Amino acid sequence: MQRDSMANTFVVAFVLCGICSLIVSGSAVGLKKFQDENKALDVQKNIISAAGLAGDEPLTADRVKKIFEKIERKLVDLETGDYVDEGKAGIKIDTYDPRKAAKDPKLSVSNKGTKFDIGMGAREKYAFAYLVKNDQGELTQVVLPIYGKGLWSTMYGFLALEKDLKTVKGITFYEHGETPGLGGEIENPTWKALWPGKKIYKGESSDANIAFGVKKGSPEGDEKEYLVDGLSGATITSRGVDQLLKYWVSDSGFGKFLKKLSEPQGGSNVGA
Ligand SMILES: Cc1cc2nc3c(=O)[nH]c(=O)nc-3n(C[C@H](O)[C@H](O)[C@H](O)COP(=O)(O)O)c2cc1C
Repeated sequence: MQRDSMANTFVVAFVLCGICSLIVSGSAVGLKKFQDENKALDVQKNIISAAGLAGDEPLTADRVKKIFEKIERKLVDLETGDYVDEGKAGIKIDTYDPRKAAKDPKLSVSNKGTKFDIGMGAREKYAFAYLVKNDQGELTQVVLPIYGKGLWSTMYGFLALEKDLKTVKGITFYEHGETPGLGGEIENPTWKALWPGKKIYKGESSDANIAFGVKKGSPEGDEKEYLVDGLSGATITSRGVDQLLKYWVSDSGFGKFLKKLSEPQGGSNVGA
């Protein structure tokens, strides 16, 4: 076969493609473990940041690990508000993935008819809640995963509540596809700083009294206790944040769990 023949050109091209695809797929497989670890670290950093525990020092992997020694992860059955019993639920808590569960008919429930709209047909039956403790082992905060649709994407974040379970400690979003400078401003520290101290309920803790959220235009008078100014040029993203916050504290989300956590440990298995 001549070196510059058509056949030779094809052979060289195929061999080169084969080698390149082996390198690309090999590195994708080899780096997957590191990618997963980095994703998990990023999620933990966001939990810490929502809870206001980051302080001024950089959040290195070691520091995150140390801070997480005081954060207990619990899997909650959102229908009952109780902690999940692995055996009865037929799942492994260590490997349970809420995002996959939300797409699994056996591990999800429909969102049809819910009072608040996160723009998703169903949500997972079981969700993780993070209990933050002090050195004496007392509950100081609860951090809840939250998500819902914005304009372009599903926005994933965390909502941290003070130990009264009625006051916002902080909010973060760690994954979304909203437009930078518009909906993407949900990540802006100045906007996030508007949340701590907002009251969730006007009156007793119940779905009917959920009053916190996002308002188009500046909140005035009493509204300031509950509402945050919407993002300009991003009404749809702002509405998404408003709805997802309300949804996740309502009985469609963590409402039943929050009630059980605020009561003495009667018949339920929920406690700090
Ligand atoms: C390129 C482009 C990107 C946009 N990105 C967003 C976005 O991320 N979130 C959002 O709510 N609106 C976004 N909008 C604007 C919406 O289409 C809509 O006009 C807006 O939500 C209305 O908000 P306003 O009433 O505050 O102007 C975008 C518009 C354009 C043209």
